[in-house]
This record gives sequence, structure tokens and C-alpha cells, in this order.
Amino acid sequence: MYLKRLHLRQFRNYHNQQVEFLAPKTILVGQNAQGKSNLLEAVELLATLRSHRTTRDRDLVSTDQPTGQITAELERDSGPLEMVLSLRSNGRRSLTVNSETVRRHLDFLGNLNAVQFSSLDLDLVRGGPAERRNWLDGVLVQLEPLYAHLWQQYNQVLRQRNAFLKHQLADADAPQLQLWNQQLAKTGTHITRRRHRLVARLAPLAQHWHQEISGSSELLKVAYAPNVSMEQDQPEIVYQAFLDKIAQKAIAEQHQVTTLVGPHRDEIELTINQTPARQYGSQGQQRTLVLALKLAELKLIEEVLGEPPLLLLDDVLAELDLQRQNQLLETIQDRFQTLITTTHLGAFDAQWLKSAQILSVRSGQILPS
Ligand SMILES: Nc1ncnc2c1ncn2[C@@H]1O[C@H](COP(=O)(O)OP(=O)(O)OP(=O)(O)O)[C@@H](O)[C@H]1O
Ligand SMILES: [Mg+2]
Repeated sequence: MYLKRLHLRQFRNYHNQQVEFLAPKTILVGQNAQGKSNLLEAVELLATLRSHRTTRDRDLVSTDQPTGQITAELERDSGPLEMVLSLRSNGRRSLTVNSETVRRHLDFLGNLNAVQFSSLDLDLVRGGPAERRNWLDGVLVQLEPLYAHLWQQYNQVLRQRNAFLKHQLADADAPQLQLWNQQLAKTGTHITRRRHRLVARLAPLAQHWHQEISGSSELLKVAYAPNVSMEQDQPEIVYQAFLDKIAQKAIAEQHQVTTLVGPHRDEIELTINQTPARQYGSQGQQRTLVLALKLAELKLIEEVLGEPPLLLLDDVLAELDLQRQNQLLETIQDRFQTLITTTHLGAFDAQWLKSAQILSVRSGQILPS
């Protein structure tokens, strides 16, 4: 897929800015706080309807404005496509695809696919399990937009069950609690099984890329460690495992007054030669690992959708050494449209600069460089 044009109106520090993408690679260069990441964030929002920087639309709409808008024109194998995401500072969104209003999020998702890699992604290695769950969920939403709906359902049940535990001081036999348990197990089973299948597909790809990039024999393992065990990928078995574990944790839950069982407590283990990646290595090695995860994501999305997604590199390329830059270049070639932000062009391999469109970003304005 190819993003031809982006139009930002009252979005972050952009007042009214059109950008036309004229090459498979675009480098956005500018000093700090000029709007480089904001532009990538706009693309991320179209791809996932989420931003990894904020959950409040008030932050996305320009300060002192009631509304903002992101419009994109895309070229896909199936033909041209226009997407519009309208934001209000009070949080209500409206979505259109080819000028038609789209009511369900899942009909908007999947029209534009993107893989983002920013320095924040180092938290995939260094941060807590929530970072890794978030990452998996973001990939799942793109591969299967229905997942966004399942995830919402699960979280709604989780919130309601937690509220119930808090207010009722429920005993484990209360019929109402039994109902919540069943709901939790039902919606949780959907999440657990999908995450399980995703990790099974990502893990060998990530291992391959890790070896390619590091040029070493170190073995990366990506393993799903679900809170409710997944020995067999069969809905009834996982559902039963859920209920069993809920029963087993009933007393602990009464003490802690919160739900202790379910995919909100999953972990995705990253190990290198059996050492947890968090304890492993230099920043450079951790960056290599995250790059391997991101390339795995890129390849998997391409494989599943049959079309290459966009790649968004926020501030990370210049931090890779030349060997890793070249590895990345070889992988993406001109097949994956790539938007790259940087504060300086100096650290780029000449190969990158040769074929790229270079734009400069200054105070929410974008100009040819
Ligand atoms: N809702 C908003 N309304 C107006 N301006 C905003 C809004 N949100 C963020 N900004 C401004 O956007 C700028 C930050 O933009 P961005 O994060 O894209 O910077 P950047 O060019 O990526 O910088 P860096 O090189 O530091 O990463 C800041 O000046 C900030 O004040
Ligand atoms: Mg930035």
C-alpha cells in the first residue's frame, strides 16, 4: 500500500498542512519539538485508532481548538482509498472511508497498515509486561480488526467484575459473581487464543531477523506466557482452564479485591540464550532485538494481508550503526513505504539519502528540503 497524501487540520501543532509523498522513502528532518513525531502519530492513528503517546483526544486536537482532522489518500492493490478521522477535544470521533461514514471501528481499521518503531519501543525489552501486551494487541488489531472489539469486550467485563468485587465484598458462590466469571472466561478465551497464535507466528520470524541483524549465533526466543495456560488451542479447554483458575484464586481475589485471572496478566517472554533480554546486553543489543521484533511484525503483516504495510521509523535510524542500517535497507528495499524522522541527516548511510524524498519540519510546517 502506498500513502500518497496526508492532510492535517488542527492536529497537534499542525494548523492546516498537506504533505505529498513522492518516493518510497521520506525523511522528515527538523529540530526537536517541531512536529516530526506528530506526523507519524497521525498515520499511526489511521492504522490503529490509537496513539502510543496518549489515550485522550484532547491532547491530539490543537490546543484551544474544538476539533481536528486527519485525512489520507492511499493507493492499495484494490484501488484508491480516502480515509478521514475527525477528532473532537471532548473525545467523540467520526470516521469515514471513501466519503462514507463508518460506524464500527473495525470497518475503519485494516484500511491502512503500519508498523511503527520509535525509541519508546525499547520499553518492549526494558519495560513491564503491559508494554509487550500492548504491542501484541496492536499487531492483532491490524491483522484482524475484530480483535479491537473482542479486546473492548474483555476490558469491559474486567472493569465490571472488579467493581463488583470492590462493592459487594462478594463470596465466591454469589450467583452474580458466577456470571461474571463465565463472562471473563468467555471473553478472555478469545484474547488468549489469539495472542497465542500470533506469538507462534511471530517467534520464528523474530528469531530469523535477530540472527540476520546481529550476525551472531545468539538465539532469541519469544514465548507467550499466558496467565491462563494454553496447552491446547481449543476454546472449551481454555474456557475450562479459566474457570478452574478463577476457582483456585477465589480467596486471594477476596483479599486483593481485584481480578487476578486473565490475559490482563499475560507476559511475553523475550530471552537470548536463555537469559531474560531485560538483563541482557547493551542499548545497541536491545535495539537490535526490538528491530528484529519490528521486522517480524512487518513481514507477518505483509504475509497475512498480501500487501506491504507502511514502516514508520521515529528517531531510530540514525541510532543504528551502519551495518544495521544496511540490513534494514536490504529488508525493506523499495517495497515498504517508509517514513523516517531525524534531527540530523549526518548519521545516515548515503544509500538512504540517495533515493529518499527529504522534507523539513519546522513549527508544524512541512517544506521541501
Ligand atoms: N495538542 C497540541 N496542540 C498544539 N501543539 C501541540 C499539541 N501537542 C503537542 N504539541 C506541540 O508539538 C510539538 C512536539 O512535536 P513532536 O513531538 O512531533 O516533536 P518532534 O519534532 O518529534 O521533536 P523531537 O525531535 O524532540 O522528537 C511541541 O512543540 C508541542 O508543544
Ligand atoms: Mg519526536
